[in-house]
Amino acid sequence: MVISFILFTMIRLGCKAVAASVMDGLKKETELFVSEGNRAPSLAVVIVGHDPASETYVRKKAEACEELGFLHFQYSLDEDATEGELLSLIDDLNARSDVDGILVQLPLPPSISERRVIERILPEKDVDGFSPVNTGRLLNGEECFIPCTPLGIMKTLSYYGIETEGKEAVIIGRSNIVGKPMAAMLMQKGVDATVTVCHTHTRDLKAHTLGADIIIVASGHPCTIDSSFVKDGAVVIDVGVNRISDPSKEKGFRLVGDADYQSFSDRDVSITPVPGGIGLMTVSMLMSNTLECAKRRRI
Ligand code: GUN
Repeated sequence: MVISFILFTMIRLGCKAVAASVMDGLKKETELFVSEGNRAPSLAVVIVGHDPASETYVRKKAEACEELGFLHFQYSLDEDATEGELLSLIDDLNARSDVDGILVQLPLPPSISERRVIERILPEKDVDGFSPVNTGRLLNGEECFIPCTPLGIMKTLSYYGIETEGKEAVIIGRSNIVGKPMAAMLMQKGVDATVTVCHTHTRDLKAHTLGADIIIVASGHPCTIDSSFVKDGAVVIDVGVNRISDPSKEKGFRLVGDADYQSFSDRDVSITPVPGGIGLMTVSMLMSNTLECAKRRRI
């Protein structure tokens, strides 16, 4: 009797090299753009309050601007800033010819309506792609600014040669930032996946994920899925960035995704890690949208 064992190893879809290749390309494009007599692209970032995670994201955005030679304007408003103050700052930034892109870091304090703030940003300066004009255009398959995280996921799939045509894609999470735009992109003509969106009211999550070729997990909760939710050969894109208390770390916490990464170690599954995964893509896609804003505004 011959007993054979097949040992599988998970494939780690790290995004450091993907993000670096995007930043390299953007650097060259920016140099060319400036050498043609254009002012460097510029990004205005607004943050309200002192959420530590938001402050980290905003700092990374500033560093990326610096790396590419973009102009960067940061506005830090107090936690108790009013919606009126924020809207009037956006009006100023909308009117300024030296500002190409505007980003208001979310979440905002509960006293401020995120919807009213997002709707105030001019669609042509909306580097996040969150305004109703850009989301509507995305659904219609028209040219628009696309939210940075789904855009980064598409770049990562393409970098690793992961095909989407006719594939079953399951998205876990229906946020405006990730789930909904991701669904719109994956079902677009030319991308051609069959898309299912699962959320907190989905009755049997596993029944959906076990049939998926591609799973995008953006639930905002650690361990939403483990390897028992995933079939052999599938691709898992983990969008989660959750801070877990860990006294052994200098900062007192560590980052984990929405998928239980360790559980995949002996499975025939490709998965993006956290950290080192999709989070790295979001900032480079923001830079790409900012350069695009600058180019369109010069036409
Ligand atoms: N907060 C978490 N992700 C994002 C993002 O992509 N854009 C903005 N503006 N805020 C966020």
